[in-house]
Amino acid sequence: MIVVTGASGHVGRALVDQLLAQGAPVRAVTRDPDKAGLPAAAGTYRADLAADDPGPLFDGADALFVNLAAGGAPTCVRLVEAAAAAGVPRAVLLSSAGVTGTAEDADNAIAHMHSVVEQAVVASGMRWTFVRGGMFATNTLDWAGQIHASGAVRGPNATSVSAPVHQDDLAAVAAAALLDDTGTHDGAVHHVTGPEALTPPQMLDIIGHAIGRHLRYVELTRPEALAAMTANGVPEPVADAILDWSNADPARTGVVSDAVKNVTGRPARTFERWVTDNVEAFRR
Ligand SMILES: NC(=O)c1ccc[n+]([C@@H]2O[C@H](COP(=O)([O-])OP(=O)(O)OC[C@H]3O[C@@H](n4cnc5c(N)ncnc54)[C@H](OP(=O)(O)O)[C@@H]3O)[C@@H](O)[C@H]2O)c1
Repeated sequence: MIVVTGASGHVGRALVDQLLAQGAPVRAVTRDPDKAGLPAAAGTYRADLAADDPGPLFDGADALFVNLAAGGAPTCVRLVEAAAAAGVPRAVLLSSAGVTGTAEDADNAIAHMHSVVEQAVVASGMRWTFVRGGMFATNTLDWAGQIHASGAVRGPNATSVSAPVHQDDLAAVAAAALLDDTGTHDGAVHHVTGPEALTPPQMLDIIGHAIGRHLRYVELTRPEALAAMTANGVPEPVADAILDWSNADPARTGVVSDAVKNVTGRPARTFERWVTDNVEAFRR
């Protein structure tokens, strides 16, 4: 039995589907099973992880998939400790490529929150694997409203580069680690990216091509971008960390890893492929 947190989210939903397809029993955690729309074959488990005692969540569990989006870092630390205390042998953590494993992590909110949970996982004594994701292709779903409204997308640094990664590839790497019985993934840190580094205007061109519209990227200054993100509810330290990433050395942010190919045997899905899979979100 594999416990999947964040099961109704982008990565969790893909992971649930892939685990079920490989015959693994799944316990999918959600705050609202009726709304989550998870496959009937997954056993759903209702919990607000930030508030509820994990209790029977770990009965019969062989592995735990941890997603910080399901309650935040302190919640995930508690969850990992509870899993270890319940005798769950393995944890796979969806972490971030922002983590450097150096003292610098303390100065970046995104790196810091993930490194705190990484440390808890290591300290738990469970067998562990980190899936450190680069920029999720799903982040561009945040552009959909502006694309619908005007075709002009406002954002920071037009020359920044990232290699957007498809949630199905993040899930495939996580599934391989969760189902591994050879020890190959024990203590492994997989830096998972898409197959090509792109600027935001290049990503926008790919979306525009898919929907048959000309889309424009409007570069904001850092203070303008910070104000726009915080107005949309992004906590300021997190917005600052995102802007640091978009202004960081392209040799770091644009890294293309071979983790998907190495772990799954298949090449990482392109951003074009991701847009094809999600094109309806961008149509008017
Ligand atoms: N975005 C990036 O570029 C990036 C890069 C690297 C790493 N990451 C990591 O990936 C995470 C995002 O993953 P994702 O896109 O798959 O997340 P997501 O789509 O936002 O899904 C998160 C799920 O967590 C569940 N959830 C939220 N609060 C909860 C709570 N209190 N208790 C139980 N469940 C709760 C929600 O399900 P219900 O509503 O059904 O409960 C939601 O569907 C980030 O938080 C970060 O740690 C992101």
